[in-house]
Amino acid sequence: MTERKKVRIHHFGEMKARGEKIAMLTAYDTPTARLFDAGGADLLLVGDSLGDNILGYDNTVPLTLDEIIPFVRAVSRGADHSFVVADLPFGSYEISPEQAVESSIRVMKLGGPNAIKFEGGRRIARQVKAVTDAGIPFMGHLGFTPQSENALGGRRIQGRGEGAYEDMLADALALQEAGAFAIVLEMVVGPIAAKITAALDIPTIGIGAGPDTDGQVLVWLDMAGIGDWHPSFTKTFGAVGALMQQAAADYVTEVKGGSFPAPEHTFDA
Ligand code: KIV
Repeated sequence: MTERKKVRIHHFGEMKARGEKIAMLTAYDTPTARLFDAGGADLLLVGDSLGDNILGYDNTVPLTLDEIIPFVRAVSRGADHSFVVADLPFGSYEISPEQAVESSIRVMKLGGPNAIKFEGGRRIARQVKAVTDAGIPFMGHLGFTPQSENALGGRRIQGRGEGAYEDMLADALALQEAGAFAIVLEMVVGPIAAKITAALDIPTIGIGAGPDTDGQVLVWLDMAGIGDWHPSFTKTFGAVGALMQQAAADYVTEVKGGSFPAPEHTFDA
């Protein structure tokens, strides 16, 4: 058996060139990072979905740089092979290229990921150029960008209507030109995501963007069936939430019934 190597930035372009799909999952802590790394995920994203999926916020907007850094560090520790990407939260990069570089350096130094991601197209291209000029790999994020949920009028599918393709393509090309190594396309109609993917040299990674992107990403709780609601474009690959709840119920039953701990769980004098 060949030993699995650490995934590096140049592998993504090579995978696009040979038509091999890229598989990314979110992760927020060391144990899940280890599981998904062992499961073969090419990339682990410490997304700002941390805010709504783990920390209980209504959306990603309140999350801060200080909050996400320990989670980035935890995932980096658990990823022996997967390439780790960390999101910059809302408010930590929009003001200027200097702010974006400063925030990115902080996350790279304290969290230890392999790359940084933040949202937007032409409006943040100067930030992207500054970050990549500083030697930090950058992943873009277009389509539905949750940090701009208020400006976009809610969770709306992107890429519909006259001029939508041209607009998104101009954003994607600006990110590619500024040095992005890949771009996430979120909730983009399938045919537009396919055309953008074909027009770019760098890979696209879709979430709710159909089958024709170069890769896919899911929030891991959707993938594993944890929680009451999952977006229609996601797929649950295992009923992990139900299993965990059953395990917890069995534990409670045994504690209350006195059958746990048994003699084999007890130290002799
Ligand atoms: O924060 C996140 O989880 C993301 C993915 C949805 C791509 O940005």
